[in-house]
Formats: sequence, structure tokens, C-alpha cells
Amino acid sequence: MCGIVGYLGPAKAAPVLLSELRCLEYRGYDSAGVAIIQDGELSVLKAAGKLNNLEKLITDNKPTATVGIGHTRWATHGVPNDQNAHPHLDASKTIAVVHNGIIENYEELKDELIKDGYAFESDTDTEVIAHLISKVYETEKDMLKAIFKTVGLLRGAYALGVVSQKHPDKIYAINQHYSLSVGLGNNESFLASDSMAVRQYTNKVVRLEQSEIAEITKEGVRLFAFDGKEVKRRPMSLDSNPYVIDKGGYKHFLLKEIHEQPLVLRQTLAKYLVHPTKPVSFIPHITPNSNGAATNNEEENQLSKSYGVHLTEMELKGIDRIQVVACGTAYHASLVGKLIIEQLCNLPVSVDIASEIRGRRLMVNESSLTIAVSQSGETADTLAALEEAKKLGSFTLGITNRPDSHLSQITPNLIVTECGIEVSVAATKTYLAQLTSFYLLGIYLAEARGAITTEHARKLKSDLNAIPTLLEQILAKENEIRLASLKYADAHDVVFIGRGFNYPTALEGALKLKELSYIHASGYAAGELKHGPIAVLDSKVPVVTVLVPGVVYEKTLSNAQEARARNAQMIAVAVEGDEQAARTFDTVLSIPAVDEFFSPLLTVVPMQLMSYFIADYLGKDVDQPRNLAKSVTVE
Ligand code: M6R
Repeated sequence: MCGIVGYLGPAKAAPVLLSELRCLEYRGYDSAGVAIIQDGELSVLKAAGKLNNLEKLITDNKPTATVGIGHTRWATHGVPNDQNAHPHLDASKTIAVVHNGIIENYEELKDELIKDGYAFESDTDTEVIAHLISKVYETEKDMLKAIFKTVGLLRGAYALGVVSQKHPDKIYAINQHYSLSVGLGNNESFLASDSMAVRQYTNKVVRLEQSEIAEITKEGVRLFAFDGKEVKRRPMSLDSNPYVIDKGGYKHFLLKEIHEQPLVLRQTLAKYLVHPTKPVSFIPHITPNSNGAATNNEEENQLSKSYGVHLTEMELKGIDRIQVVACGTAYHASLVGKLIIEQLCNLPVSVDIASEIRGRRLMVNESSLTIAVSQSGETADTLAALEEAKKLGSFTLGITNRPDSHLSQITPNLIVTECGIEVSVAATKTYLAQLTSFYLLGIYLAEARGAITTEHARKLKSDLNAIPTLLEQILAKENEIRLASLKYADAHDVVFIGRGFNYPTALEGALKLKELSYIHASGYAAGELKHGPIAVLDSKVPVVTVLVPGVVYEKTLSNAQEARARNAQMIAVAVEGDEQAARTFDTVLSIPAVDEFFSPLLTVVPMQLMSYFIADYLGKDVDQPRNLAKSVTVE
């Protein structure tokens, strides 16, 4: 959450900072700002609201400075207004700080600074950092020493960018449990919370590890540990193809990403499933070079080497329990993952919301496998839960869409989903790719442990390969789904129900509708409806039921009937030609016939489209819903 950028070089800094910030807007869009050193003086431009407001300020002021830092904010301390927007300055207005994360002891530090006569202009925890650096600098007259001493006083997880007008040829970056990358160009350097933001300028990057400080100049970067010792690290090469970020003719990124799902599935399957007769293989992925050929350059392959699952057959056979940790949509994918692995491997799987692991005893040991699922690979709670599992001796595995993320640094085993960047803040294609990874992982584990026959494995793989075509059939009916969905656009509360493999789909359907349209929605296990939630039903409440032929079909239908008896507005996601569904529900969003086991890959799609069309009809900002951020790096 929050994005930090920086630039030093021959070019005008403000436009570079803006273009870096554009790539980081997914991390928060409550306000944005830059601090630049113009004609030897520090100057700040910042504005509440989206980046366009800052862009206007920059256009009006036309700064020519060639050094600066910038920030896009997701508010934690203090409302999102101009005053609380970053950068924040010290009292002498010569030091500027941008900050991602939380300073846990900022109130006690602030009280002491106030006692010493410092005045505060914002409600943020960030401002204390600017004052502290400035205070130490007065005696030390050395920025690095001032920063070392300041970080010794701070508690919490944070990343910082700092500039001082007394040192206009340097930017300082500090990383404590977050992500920061320094991009190295030709006589110019860049700083960003996410290497994706510097990839438009250079693919040579040095990542800051935990408790590190970077002193960045045009010529390069020096790294120091918090104890002052210099650290040597060679730059790594990012994939030489920068991500293309455009809407491809769609009205919103979200709609584009929903439509990309068949391709995403094909790509993820192609990477790990060579042929139905061959075992699933999570071999290390080799990044092609710019000519499209695999490269043997060690540096270039630094990132790609960490891909893949490197557990031996003996280790895979020895696992007696799986723990999955994730948040939000990734948590919903993990709930499906539990059912897949339990069914195929006869192995107990627990799934926990990662933030709920804190302060609790995590029940893993040397014979457990802990899986962290995170599209961004940066979710603080998910990373912390995985670290905790590591401490307890568990094997670890990450499922992510970002092989260059923090998650990839903390586990030797990584399944990378092939989604391309997901720009829309609400997750759609990454959810489907996470589900696909779990199907592949389930088959992989079952094959390695001898839990399924070759024939069963072959059938599962063939069925999985057929899913992208079925997805295309749903997407072809987009207009039908739009018309059906808009009948419910004036609802204030919507209930989603499902059982078994589609209970998580109900949770995900409700989350999508809430996030995109701001309509209150809740997902329930269909059998739970009668245990309380049924009290909210009346003729104004739409109930969306996921109804797929299989072991829970009849019971789900009975639960839907209970809702119908309370005059609820009845919507189903059901398979084509289901006559019982046609009789029971006012609206049926149909999907092609599919085995219940694989149905979560299809049933969620009409719900994604329904949420999108309602939100767009209501005029909501579907790609950047209010109050959200794509990368949730606070705890
Ligand atoms: O990057 P992650 O997958 O770890 O993110 C987890 C959640 O923050 C994320 O899924 C969130 O719920 C999205 N807004 C869902 O659309």
C-alpha cells in the first residue's frame, strides 16, 4: 500500500516521477505528491485525490528539476486531504520524506518531538520521520548517519524515500519489511516500490532486502545494512519485455481482464501441463530473452531460477498436512484448493485468513507444507504467516502472479500464474489462475504420492484443458448477463449462497459485488442460511444461488427454495438446460455443463460480469474502487 518513486538523472524529474506513479496507482489513490530539488531548493507539489490532480499541478508549475521523490497514498493515519498527502517535510523545509507502511511508536516519538518544540502540520505518522532525520542531522551533519540513527528509533514495517536540499545529488531509500527497487539506467537512477514502475526505463534492478538503506546517485547505488555495514549486491535483470498496460479497446481494465481469463488459463496450463499423459511438472521457468530464446546468462536468469517446486519425491510423500494462508480473493481460491487437495490426495488441508495467524499457534511442523497464495506477492499478513511457518520448520510454497515479489524471496518453491499484470484493483483473472494452480498442484501431489491412478490423472488433465473453451462460451453471452444483472442494480443487500466446491464461489461473488458496486453483499454456505441469515430475506433482497449438478445439488436447491418461500428475488448460476433451475429462479445465468469438481472455474465468471455491469451502470469507478488498494502491505 502506498507507492514510492524516485528519480535522479539528466531528464526532468517530475514527468518521470509521474509515469512511475502511474504504474503504482494500484497501491493507493487517496492522494499523490512529489518533492523535487529545483534550483537548489526543495519544493513540494501534492494534491488529494487521484494522480490526475497532481499531474495538473505539475503541468501548471512546469518544474525543471532533475531529482525528486514521489508518492501515491492509501491513507492509514489521517484523512486523505492535501495536508496529509506525502511528501512530508522537516521544520526547516530542507528534508522531504515519502513513506509506505506504519510507524507503530509514532505517537511516543511525536510527543517527544513536540516537547522539544517541533510543530506538526499533518496527522500522519510520516512527519515524525522527517523531523527525526533533521534533528539528528543538526548534530551529525551527515545524512547517512542521520538515517541510521533515525531507523534505530522507529518501530514497525516501512519503506521510505528521502531527499535533502543539502545533498541534491542523492536520494536515500530505506526498507524495513517492505519492497523497494533501484533501477539503474545510463547516468540516471530510479526508485520504486515495485520494479514494474522502473521497467519502462531500465531492466537492471537492485532490490533492497530487509533492514537496508540505499544511497542512490545518478551513477549507481550503495547499500548498507541498518548496522552501517556496506552490503554488496549485483543488479538483476528483469524480463526484458515491459508489461503493456492498455485497455485493449475495452471500457475498463476489469472487463478486459475478465475476458482474458480463457487465455490466462491456457497459458498457466501450457506452462505446467505439457500433455495429459505426462505428469504435471512445476519445473523452473526460463525467461526468454528479447529474441524469444531461453537464455543461459546467469544474471538474467536470477529471477527465473527461483520459480518452480523443488521438493523431492521423498519430501512430497512425507508431507502429512497442508496449511494454506491468504487474504481476500486469494483466500477464497484457497478454500477451493483445500477441497481439491483433500479429494485428490486424501491429505488434511487447513486454510486460514493470514491476518488471523498473528498471535496464534500455527499448527505446522517439519512434515507440513505451508502454501501462501497472493497475486501481488506483497500482502503483509500473508508474508508474515509464511515466515512464521518457516520458523516452525514447515516446507513452504508460494502461488503468485509476481515472480519478482517479496513472496518469491522468502520461499524456495513458487508457482507463478501466467496472468500478465492485473491492473484493475478487484481481482478476477488472478483468481481463476490461482484456482488453476490449485487444480494443477492437487494433481501434482496426487501423482507424486501415488494417490490417483494414471487413468484418473489423465482424465483430470483433459477436463482441465477443456475449461478455457467453456469459459469462452460464457463470455460470449456477456450481453445476456448484462441485461439480466441490471434488473438487480437497485438492490441494497444481496445474498450469495453455494455449497461444497461453490461455497467459496458464493464468498467471491459477494466480495466482487461489494468491492465494485458498494452494494452490501454477503456469501454463505447455503446450508447456513436457515441458521440466521435467512432473517434478512424479503422481496427486496436478491439471493444468488450457485447450483451445479453433483453431490450437493439437491440440498442446494432445497436451500434456495427456503429463500424463495421468503419472497426473495431468485437468481441462479446454473448449467444450461437445468429445468428445475428454470422453474425455481426468476433469473438464470447459465454456464456450460461441467463436472462439479471443476465448476468453480466457471461459476464465478457470471458473478464477475454481474458485479461489473451493476457497478458500471451505477457509475462507480470500477477499476479503482473507493478505499481499496491492490497491494495490501499494511498489517
Ligand atoms: O495480492 P493478494 O492476492 O495477496 O491480495 C489479497 C487481497 O487483498 C485481494 O484479493 C483483495 O481481496 C482484492 N481486492 C480482491 O478483489
